Amino acid sequence: MTTHQPILDVKNINVFYGASHILFAVSLQIAKGRTLALLGRNGAGKSTTMKAIMGVVPIKSGAISFAGSRIDGQAPHEMARKGLGFVPEDRQVFIDHTVDENLRIAAKRGVDGREEWTIENIYDAFPLLAKMRQRKAGMMSGGEQQLLSMARCLMGNPGLILLDEPSEGLAPIIVQEIGRLIRTLRGTGVTIILAEQNMHFCLGISEDAVIIDKGQIVYRGTIEDLRGNKDVANRYLAI
Ligand SMILES: Nc1ncnc2c1ncn2[C@@H]1O[C@H](COP(=O)(O)OP(=O)(O)OP(=O)(O)O)[C@@H](O)[C@H]1O
Ligand SMILES: [Mg+2]
Repeated sequence: MTTHQPILDVKNINVFYGASHILFAVSLQIAKGRTLALLGRNGAGKSTTMKAIMGVVPIKSGAISFAGSRIDGQAPHEMARKGLGFVPEDRQVFIDHTVDENLRIAAKRGVDGREEWTIENIYDAFPLLAKMRQRKAGMMSGGEQQLLSMARCLMGNPGLILLDEPSEGLAPIIVQEIGRLIRTLRGTGVTIILAEQNMHFCLGISEDAVIIDKGQIVYRGTIEDLRGNKDVANRYLAI
């Protein structure tokens, strides 16, 4: 038996949308405190993998374990209770509520009672949000909403965070800010899975990388090795 049991262990999951087979025996593991980049082109299956882990879409076969227990087949709110946090690509914020209300609604203790993230810590880590406490989320830019969505996730004090393309379509200044935040998060010992099309964004942010292509995992390694492996990067990623 290995002593390095992964905190998240996805084993051979198959996912269908109706009759369409979307994920083919996808397996991935992540050790506690690591950051894994889940890379792949448009339509490769990144979001579907995250939704399957969160219980948003059902798996047809395979198994998903978190912290040593099976979690597949459970509802998304159960996953949140177990310490999984999800920032979906469509940035779910309450547009008619202020920044402050959005954050307070999301407040929750971590599984082990941890309250690392309080509203004041969030405002320290996200100075842009601190300036907008009373602004309605619907009046914010896409980048600001992305930051709010990440901050809402942290208010639940998750042990594992799934970030679905947090940099997509955003201005370079906000992309930089998001990169800085993810590096800060790593320092807190949280485990992160980062779905991205852009390998360059992940350099210096994640340690490990997997590539998904047409619903299959086609590469596993470190992000540094991938950077040096131009063949694989060119074949499976838009560079
Ligand atoms: N609700 C759905 N019903 C049917 N097919 C879907 C649905 N959602 C996604 N798909 C298909 O499943 C495949 C994987 O999609 P997915 O959204 O997981 O890809 P992705 O890697 O997240 O892409 P992107 O980078 O564009 O977000 C695609 O072929 C997509 O067309
Ligand atoms: Mg997606």
